Amino acid sequence: MIMVRCAAKMAQAQHDRTAWFKGGTAHCQVTLAPGARAYRLVLLGAPGVGKGTQAELISERLGPCHLSTGDVFRAAKTLDPSERTPALNAALEHMKRGELVPDATVIGIVRERPSCLRCPGGFLLDGFPRTVEQAEALAAMLKDLSLQLSAVVSYDLPIEQIVARLSGRRTCSQCKAVYHVATKPPKVADVCDNCNGKLIIREDDRPESIRVRMQAYEQSTAPLAAYYRQRGLLVSIPADGSPEDIYRRTVVALAS
Ligand code: AP5
Repeated sequence: MIMVRCAAKMAQAQHDRTAWFKGGTAHCQVTLAPGARAYRLVLLGAPGVGKGTQAELISERLGPCHLSTGDVFRAAKTLDPSERTPALNAALEHMKRGELVPDATVIGIVRERPSCLRCPGGFLLDGFPRTVEQAEALAAMLKDLSLQLSAVVSYDLPIEQIVARLSGRRTCSQCKAVYHVATKPPKVADVCDNCNGKLIIREDDRPESIRVRMQAYEQSTAPLAAYYRQRGLLVSIPADGSPEDIYRRTVVALAS
């Protein structure tokens, strides 16, 4: 059995992402357990490869806070349009079409949340960085905070399996839990097991947006694997098999 020390006191670390969602002066109640390790990770991989699924498992079991830029944009969608900045409104339009949000907007969002990078439990960036410009900005932010990445985990899967994962995904309209019609169906069709919310297809999981997202990934994000390999940080993990299989591979790679 593989033993990895947890980074934070789980009861406090789990699900407290107040600072990430609210930004500004909001803060979370996370502490580091004595003698534990704080992981500072980036997850890379094509849209739909399973980054969010792995992020949930890693965050729950190893403690780093799950920081997804996509989640910040999706949370912004629930605000009244008048409460959103023009940059955020424009970002949501890009997202709907499957395009990348402009670097300046995304970098601004992460920069406004320095307490998340300093989180005592560590962090798990999911969906950021996505371009070399974002990677350079992250490096500068971490340098200013005297922090270093532990590793960059890249999940790899053939495109046809990725498309099958994306096209079967269903998301709870209320609590945002993620399901799959074939591999992780809810107990009752189209109803969330956790909160009874209605399950929906994400706007950007429609075929025309999936095509644009895959192109954006190939052009802008795939080159980041070479960027991080050159810096000795890249860990490549095959993303076939069950979420538990992939999690176990990830833990073994992190332990080494
Ligand atoms: P974001 O939210 O980051 O989405 P993404 O990268 O496209 O990734 P997904 O959430 O689609 O997939 P995932 O890899 O997390 O897979 P999941 O675990 O859900 O970004 C969305 C948009 O926001 C972008 O397109 C862009 O517009 C914008 N954006 C965000 N960050 C940005 C940035 N930094 N710069 C610019 N723009 C940015 O799994 C998928 C499905 O497969 C699920 O149904 C799941 O149940 C299933 N599944 C998972 N693992 C397995 C498995 N092992 N076996 C079988 N099924 C599985």
